[in-house]
Amino acid sequence: MRASAVIEQPNMNEPLAQLFQRLLDELEQPESVEWDAQESTLNPAIYSDPAILQKEIDRIFRRVPLCLGHADQLREPGSMLARDLFGLPLLLVRDRAGEINVFLNVCRHRGARLVAGEGEVCRASTLSCPYHAWTYDLNGALRVVPGAEAFPTLDKATRGLRRLPATVRHGLIWALMDPQQSVIDVAGFLGGLDEDLAALDLKSHCFYRQHARKRKTNWKLMMDAFQEVYHIKRLHARTIAPFFLERKAAGEGVGPHTRILVGRDRFAEARDLPPQQWDLRRHATLTHVIFPNSLIIYHPDSTSHMGMFPTAPDEILFVHTLFIPHEPRNDKERGHWARNFAMIDEGVFGAEDLFISEQIQLGVRSGANDSFVLGRFEQHLRRFHEHIEAMLRGNDDS
Ligand code: FES
Ligand SMILES: [Fe+2]
Repeated sequence: MRASAVIEQPNMNEPLAQLFQRLLDELEQPESVEWDAQESTLNPAIYSDPAILQKEIDRIFRRVPLCLGHADQLREPGSMLARDLFGLPLLLVRDRAGEINVFLNVCRHRGARLVAGEGEVCRASTLSCPYHAWTYDLNGALRVVPGAEAFPTLDKATRGLRRLPATVRHGLIWALMDPQQSVIDVAGFLGGLDEDLAALDLKSHCFYRQHARKRKTNWKLMMDAFQEVYHIKRLHARTIAPFFLERKAAGEGVGPHTRILVGRDRFAEARDLPPQQWDLRRHATLTHVIFPNSLIIYHPDSTSHMGMFPTAPDEILFVHTLFIPHEPRNDKERGHWARNFAMIDEGVFGAEDLFISEQIQLGVRSGANDSFVLGRFEQHLRRFHEHIEAMLRGNDDS
């Protein structure tokens, strides 16, 4: 994950520059101004209780825009991807006008899945049901009903595919998991992070690869793992630890979201550079924690999006997508991105962060801990869990 020459450095907006400055200011300090005054605790039951997960789905996951990946994954008109989330069979489709639609992958005749399987991008010019061949266009309109004389009162206009509110913003696909809603406001939901994402220009990046798999961990354990730097030197000792300073991070809450900047091994170089030469990816690594279940990590020359989609209290569908600044142009670049993806996806995330989350899950119900203790520098986890608790209580102002 070392910087290579292939990336154009992204610009920083003002909040990111200020965060960078704060990290520089605190480089020699034993602690940060943002640390909590005291330790706090978490109840381990939040990771295993089915009733809590059901509330999280009803009161959080079905109510806020969720990021489903990068629009460039569906590059050509007619590209489509089936994905089942929260009991909803979804079908993401790029139409002829270039718009991305998110439909329920359910035929309006007698309910067959239109696209079988899950997770593979395929292409078609229409959506034809495998059962009786009702056929929809890429906008979801019902176009063909074989044996139409048997449906004399059928109004095709009312039998188009059901759609979820969805949009593309900053190159990312967002959808609201509620077919009863019609409006999605991603900019309003992102608040201050909207400008960060614009400054980082993800929409100019290309899709490289996606790896989705089920793993036996509560979704919040994986979100926790990316909101502190306490573990980097130990858990990631064999992969990325040498690239990072010991426990040097500056972060802040942005509504329910968080931005965290972690000092890389060469961060101290930036002290002698004018601000216009500060480099967000070379000197540091930025993470956006987008509430509730998305993480974006800005590696030196690629970007990861991770989505944590709970399928059970102790299981997630973990969807990792890597974006790169441009298509690989030769074998050297192809080899570089292949190694890059393998190290990040299988090495760091799979064998380390997911591994330790699964290890925690195995012991959550053991009774060993009636509370987990958070150190003063684990304040972002504390805030994350407070936002969840507030939403579960029904406090939508959180
Ligand atoms: S269920 Fe799709 S055409 Fe009959
Ligand atoms: Fe980690």
